[in-house]
Amino acid sequence: MKDLTPPRDSLDPMEIASRDEIAATQLERMKWSLHHAYDNVPFYRQSFDTAGIHPGDLVDLADLAKFPFTVKSDLRDNYPFGLFAVPRDQIVRLHASSGTTGKPTVVGYTAGDIDMWAGMVARSMRAAGTRPGDLAHIAYGYGLFTGGLGAHYGAEKLGCTVVPVSGGMTARQVTLIEDFKPSTIMVTPSYMLNILEEYHRQGIDPRASSLEVGIFGAEPWTNKMRTEVEAAFDMHAVDIYGLSEVMGPGVASECVETKDGLHIWEDHFYPEIIDPVTGEVLPDGEMGELVFTTLTKEGLPIIRYRTRDLTRLLPGTARSLRRMEKITGRSDDMIILRGVNVFPSQIEEQVLTVDGLAPYYQIELLKDGRMDAMRVHVESLPDHGDGEAQAVQAAQLGHRIKEVVGVSAEILVADPGSVERSQGKARRVVDNRSKT
Ligand code: DLL
Repeated sequence: MKDLTPPRDSLDPMEIASRDEIAATQLERMKWSLHHAYDNVPFYRQSFDTAGIHPGDLVDLADLAKFPFTVKSDLRDNYPFGLFAVPRDQIVRLHASSGTTGKPTVVGYTAGDIDMWAGMVARSMRAAGTRPGDLAHIAYGYGLFTGGLGAHYGAEKLGCTVVPVSGGMTARQVTLIEDFKPSTIMVTPSYMLNILEEYHRQGIDPRASSLEVGIFGAEPWTNKMRTEVEAAFDMHAVDIYGLSEVMGPGVASECVETKDGLHIWEDHFYPEIIDPVTGEVLPDGEMGELVFTTLTKEGLPIIRYRTRDLTRLLPGTARSLRRMEKITGRSDDMIILRGVNVFPSQIEEQVLTVDGLAPYYQIELLKDGRMDAMRVHVESLPDHGDGEAQAVQAAQLGHRIKEVVGVSAEILVADPGSVERSQGKARRVVDNRSKT
């Protein structure tokens, strides 16, 4: 793989500023953001007043802990535009989460916000090793989901030639990569596996493709998956994180030279880690729920938003800005099986250690009498698929999950192609407990 480390003089000054400079910028911006929210959004005025706190009470960064949290239902309760801090006609773009239940959550951006967002995605892409002039193939979904358009504007801002393919039509994805020869692909990691499979189906060697870097996010994926995809395509695979309520992709991103977690662009998004039960702020290094406060957003400032994503904060390495460890999972996706907490990413790691298994999996939850039970659906690789081999693979995976994760799971190894494929965010858990 090529060394794609960006030249130091191409970085934004804030990426390599001193911690004192970063903190000074954050404090000044946080004061602005709290005032902006309080002065312009009735919801914040009311929630700060109820908590007996005023933006003027923020003297240093740690004072943020005195302010109330914002949660997803606050966006729903103020559907559609109630949390906007500027008149609707200054909002140039709307996005919305699909929302599996009830109303979607709607977010709005001013022209300034779109510019800042593009700047952060451009920064993320540069960190990943993409250079101005490169061709970028964007297979995140376009539309109300922030992935496609978020990546698109950032790639343009960096100076790339953008191929706005969106998700789906996998055979065509391969054709376009082969014909246009992008250096960069931006896509969910699970859909990248789908594209990999299509390469094999068409009999094309993925290692010979033009791809040098994949910028993967929108769902959890493990370091084992990184190794798998990097080997399959002979390219770098880096992680990009974001969420619509805070902005979209490009809140944090990995650097290609270190691949040691995601640098948070904390000159625009102030992170905290809290104990998800007590809400208490935890020191850097401790695992907990990630909380963000936007420092510069105009259209929809968000104060102490509880992401439900679990990770920990770590000091900067390739950049001065702090890192977050790869997301373990969302608290919503945590499975509690006979008292043991299990995340789909832990199952993914084990699937990838068993020889002969393909990297596709889905977890099914069911009832075994009155107890919850877990079934893991996997499949063998095309040339490893006879019944005897599958029995060995099932036994190995069951054993590894028991040993490393600490739970018993029923393993079903099926033939290639049987596990549901993803075109965007993969559905890792299917809950059939009410049906069994
Ligand atoms: O998924 C934004 C995005 C698009 C990020 C493209 C990266 C690339 P939402 O649909 O609002 O926004 O979903 C946000 O997805 O709270 C996490 O649970 C999860 N997520 C996003 N990126 C990662 C990642 C976009 N790199 C939710 N690792 C977040 C793990 C991620 N989970």
